[in-house]
Amino acid sequence: MIWIFAVDELWRIGYAGEMLFAIPDDLRRFKEITWGHVLLMGRKTYDALPVRPLKGRKSIVLSRNIHFSPDGVDVARSKEDALSMIEQKYAGEKIFCIGGGEVARMFLPETNAAHITHVQGVFTPYDTQLPDLTEKGFMLKEWSDLHVYETYRYRYAYYERNRL
Ligand SMILES: NC(=O)c1ccc[n+]([C@@H]2O[C@H](COP(=O)([O-])OP(=O)(O)OC[C@H]3O[C@@H](n4cnc5c(N)ncnc54)[C@H](OP(=O)(O)O)[C@@H]3O)[C@@H](O)[C@H]2O)c1
Repeated sequence: MIWIFAVDELWRIGYAGEMLFAIPDDLRRFKEITWGHVLLMGRKTYDALPVRPLKGRKSIVLSRNIHFSPDGVDVARSKEDALSMIEQKYAGEKIFCIGGGEVARMFLPETNAAHITHVQGVFTPYDTQLPDLTEKGFMLKEWSDLHVYETYRYRYAYYERNRL
C-alpha cells in the first residue's frame, strides 16, 4: 500500500473536514499518480471530495455507519473487511491510501511507500495530523526542486520503508 498526502512542516493535513492546502499542480499530480488504481479512504475524506467518487479510479471507503452505501464505491465496515477486499477483489492492484489521518494511521503497518507533498510553513488551525514517516521506519528516497504557487512553497518527496 502507498500513502499519498500533502503535509505542512509538522505533518498536519486537515481542519474541519477540509485539506489545509489547495495547490492545483499537486492535485493534478495526485490524479496522474493514482489514475487507474484503487483508492482507500475514510468516510470523512470521502465526504470532503469535490466529486464523489473520484473518476478513473476504484474506491474503498471505510465506515461503520450501516446507512452509508453510496453508489460506485466499495464500503468496508472494518480494517479486516478492507484488507479482505484488497486481497480478493483487488488482488495484484496498486492500492493508494488517500486519507485521512485516522485511516492512514490504521494502515501504516501495511504501507511500504509514500508520495508526500511537503508544504513549507506551519498551518493553523488544524485538527488532523500524520506521523513523521522518518520516525516510523521510512527513508526519504526522492526530493524534488522547490515549487512555488501563490503563497505556497513546496517539494515532492517519495519515501520507502527501510528493509532490515
Ligand atoms: N492533506 C491531505 O493530503 C489530506 C488527504 C486526505 C484527507 N485530508 C483531511 O483529513 C481530514 C479527515 O481525516 P480524519 O482522520 O478526520 O477522517 P478519515 O480517516 O477520512 O475518516 C474517518 C472515518 O472512517 C471510518 N472509519 C475509521 N476507522 C474505521 C474502522 N476501523 N472501520 C470502519 N470504519 C472506520 C469512520 O467513518 P464513520 O464515521 O462513517 O463510521 C470514521 O469516522 C479532513 O480534514 C481531510 O480534508 C487531508
